[in-house]
Amino acid sequence: MEKTIAIVDLGGQYCHLIWRQLRRLGVESEIYGPSTSSEFLAKHAGIILSGGPQSVYEKGAPKVSEDILRLNIPLLGICYGHQLLAQMLGADVRKGEGEFGPTKLSVVAQDTLFRGTPQEQIVWMSHTDSVTKLPSELLTLASTSQCRNAAFSDVRRHFYGVQFHPEVVHTENGLKILRTFVSSVCGLRASKDIKYRIKPLVDKIRARVGRKSVFFLVSGGVDSTVAFVLCAKALPKDRIWGLYVDTGLMRKDETEALRINLARLGLLDRLKTRDRSADFLENLRGVSNPETKRQMIGRLFVQVQSEVMHELGIDDRRWLLGQGTIYPDTIESGGARGLAAVIKTHHNRCPEILEMIRKGRVIEPLAEFYKDDVRELGKALGLEPKLTNRWPFPGPGLAIRCLCSRTTAKSSKINDALRKCVAALNYEGVLLPIKSVGVQGDARTYRKVVALRDGGDEIDYEKLQRLSTELCNVHTATNRVVVLISGRVKSLESATIKRATVTRPRVELLREADHIVRSKMEAHGLVESVWQFPVVLVPISFHGGESIILRPVNSTDGMTASFARLPKDVLRRIAGEIIELSGVDAVFLDVTSKPPATIEWE
Ligand code: XMP
Repeated sequence: MEKTIAIVDLGGQYCHLIWRQLRRLGVESEIYGPSTSSEFLAKHAGIILSGGPQSVYEKGAPKVSEDILRLNIPLLGICYGHQLLAQMLGADVRKGEGEFGPTKLSVVAQDTLFRGTPQEQIVWMSHTDSVTKLPSELLTLASTSQCRNAAFSDVRRHFYGVQFHPEVVHTENGLKILRTFVSSVCGLRASKDIKYRIKPLVDKIRARVGRKSVFFLVSGGVDSTVAFVLCAKALPKDRIWGLYVDTGLMRKDETEALRINLARLGLLDRLKTRDRSADFLENLRGVSNPETKRQMIGRLFVQVQSEVMHELGIDDRRWLLGQGTIYPDTIESGGARGLAAVIKTHHNRCPEILEMIRKGRVIEPLAEFYKDDVRELGKALGLEPKLTNRWPFPGPGLAIRCLCSRTTAKSSKINDALRKCVAALNYEGVLLPIKSVGVQGDARTYRKVVALRDGGDEIDYEKLQRLSTELCNVHTATNRVVVLISGRVKSLESATIKRATVTRPRVELLREADHIVRSKMEAHGLVESVWQFPVVLVPISFHGGESIILRPVNSTDGMTASFARLPKDVLRRIAGEIIELSGVDAVFLDVTSKPPATIEWE
């Protein structure tokens, strides 16, 4: 049997990305739990230890057997895996200041792992602990301003550790570093192309479905459409149904666009549509916690699905529920192995669906894939580029872009040291009294937002990038930074939060703002220049209204992201049109990377 790489999952948000990047390189790998025996791991060409949310010195933190140090095969530790490997080799690991997002790395010792990469390079960091002291036989390969041992090696034994994440696309030379490890260090080689994956996928669906049929929840987005089309390719037409639930939380014209697309694919007669917007809004009344919102929406989807199956006289036992779940949905909802932290429960991972999965009643043909793979698959299946290139839209829809508050509150001052750093760059800054979800050091955070205003009314993306990284690294009360683009705002300190829940008028206001963004981006031919563009309504008030946040991001898989630098004239035009909407006091631009923030606010 051909040798592969063993990835040991220590609970990291990006563990599966390692698998996927290796597949991109044409190298097969398997993910195992930390208790896998070293005899079993020894059958592999190399072992990669993933990141994870815990500290190696904490009680109960995942460990691997020290026997792996004696297997005589190459090891690569990433983030937590780097710290664990270093600790097993006798190094000190301590809590530090932390680094999140893009970070400058200086290679200090030229070595195999960094071969062909520049001496200074940008890497993606997400850690608080650091390897502080190495034993003499280990060599420091690279450092950052906060982290002396950002990479190390034991060249003789082929052991490597990197504090940064080579598996995320924002690490400039990440794929190259992984390629060097699997090819030069582990001696593996191969190559593959996504279109050859269609036949095995179709075969797998047939084998999994057997004589049953598939009842699919379709949303009109890329993932569920590609998954639906794959199932339609695998099964006779009378054994597949699609259900589209109009939740009232969709974007403008969404429902119609779905119908047109399915008609083009000859699948419209297999689609059932239900308008349940009144129920969704009724259930969301008074709910402000993001996780509760998500779980409630997931539950209602399942309820509607079983009602419709009942109506159609479908016997539960002869059908599987089809979903377009992709890998990030699983990992951010707590992971496949239960080690990863829950960042947010995606609507297709609510407890009711998990129960159906446990009973073997769900089929998810794309569960191992990422968005960019799904787009490639969609193209290979002959779907319209307009559909495959659509911005991702989350299942819970506008509900999680419509932030709520149970209380009223005022903005507060950021601490003196930070105010100085903000003022030095000619910005005014306050801590907004609203929280959003983030992911820091592989764990979920729910923290306040810093709002900035440029004294010169400029938009300087370079400065904003620097400020947002610094503010979130140092100011532990925050995970997100926004900058004012438009609004009649005398002082940011006058911001207050209003009581708010998800209501029809608020969703309609958000839908209008979202529509302005989409049409302006289309008009300027810029849709494909960003990966996703959430528009968020927050009850931050200056004159009795609310604020809109623009969140354009660049990403390839949704696991990491950087804020997209839109042409400034287009940004001003978008903000100028949104501020004219009745009920909008201010428009902000979100200038945070993921990590420390997530793409969506909730
Ligand atoms: P975050 O906000 O976690 O999002 O950075 C990563 C990607 O996932 C999308 N997303 C979802 N997609 N159901 C989905 O189908 C969900 O519940 C959900 N929540 C987030 C998000 O829009 C982004 O593309």
